[in-house]
Amino acid sequence: MLKAYAGHWGLVTGASSGIGAEFARQLAARGMHCVLVARREDRLRALAEELKAAHGIRCEIVPADLSQPRAGRELLAEVSRRGVAVELLVNNAGFGMVSSVEETDVGRALELVQVNVAGLTELTLLAAKEMVARGHGGIINIGSIVSFQPVGYMGVYAASKAYVLHFSEALWAELRPRGITVTTLCPGTTRTEFFDQAGVPGWAEQNRGQDVTSVVRTGLKAFDAGRHYVVSGWTNYLLSLAVRLATRATVVKGTMSVFQRRAATHD
Ligand SMILES: NC(=O)c1ccc[n+]([C@@H]2O[C@H](COP(=O)([O-])OP(=O)(O)OC[C@H]3O[C@@H](n4cnc5c(N)ncnc54)[C@H](OP(=O)(O)O)[C@@H]3O)[C@@H](O)[C@H]2O)c1
Repeated sequence: MLKAYAGHWGLVTGASSGIGAEFARQLAARGMHCVLVARREDRLRALAEELKAAHGIRCEIVPADLSQPRAGRELLAEVSRRGVAVELLVNNAGFGMVSSVEETDVGRALELVQVNVAGLTELTLLAAKEMVARGHGGIINIGSIVSFQPVGYMGVYAASKAYVLHFSEALWAELRPRGITVTTLCPGTTRTEFFDQAGVPGWAEQNRGQDVTSVVRTGLKAFDAGRHYVVSGWTNYLLSLAVRLATRATVVKGTMSVFQRRAATHD
């Protein structure tokens, strides 16, 4: 758990847009100093200026490409060189891909695994070791509604988010008695740049995506309560439970129609 937000440091990956930028805004509003991480430095710089002016907090920006092996290790070393002890780590950086097997860019798929799985694992374990030594701290990892099921045409991404939930829940159980909270926030469709990057622009708007403010508020509330995971939105929560009632084949076949038309346009 955290000693306090105000006056302590939080590190948010993927802070240059969407859910990550909103995490930084809500943490800064609680008086937390922020380390902002992503590749787009101009965006990080603009957000840092905004947060410092609005909340009088301190902000560090660290431009980093988390698809590079060892990027997490180098990031934490840089943060430590700047004299920052990370009390709260928000592993939010990530991206998705919607594509049929034929059109899948295998290199991009492996980059996805590096950012969503390997990079997150490296940052989580290294930060958790420091937190265990201090006896307090917290980690919020961003899963997804697809953490609960495989999804046709989105197999690599959905599997990466299943990993995030399983890995993080195991750490929640292990580290809870050591004074560290590990919470997984599982958003449903949320209005960010995510679907533009994933190859289905406009998807979130067409499918009544949630806004980032409520998604992040839900995540922080669950973290404050020491919960192992939370799904944002009641409908999404019910969907995450509903998949337990059907056979695995029924569930995965049922997902095929979601992105099928989009994949077909590339045939
Ligand atoms: N939007 C949704 O419907 C939804 C639903 C469930 C879960 N999620 C999850 O929520 C998280 C945030 O996504 P979002 O919706 O806010 O999408 P977004 O607006 O596209 O933001 C993604 C963030 O990740 C960063 N990122 C991507 N690749 C990176 C890399 N190689 N190195 C460093 N940073 C990288 C991006 O920064 P740069 O491009 O500047 O590097 C950006 O700040 C992701 O983990 C996503 O899987 C989203």
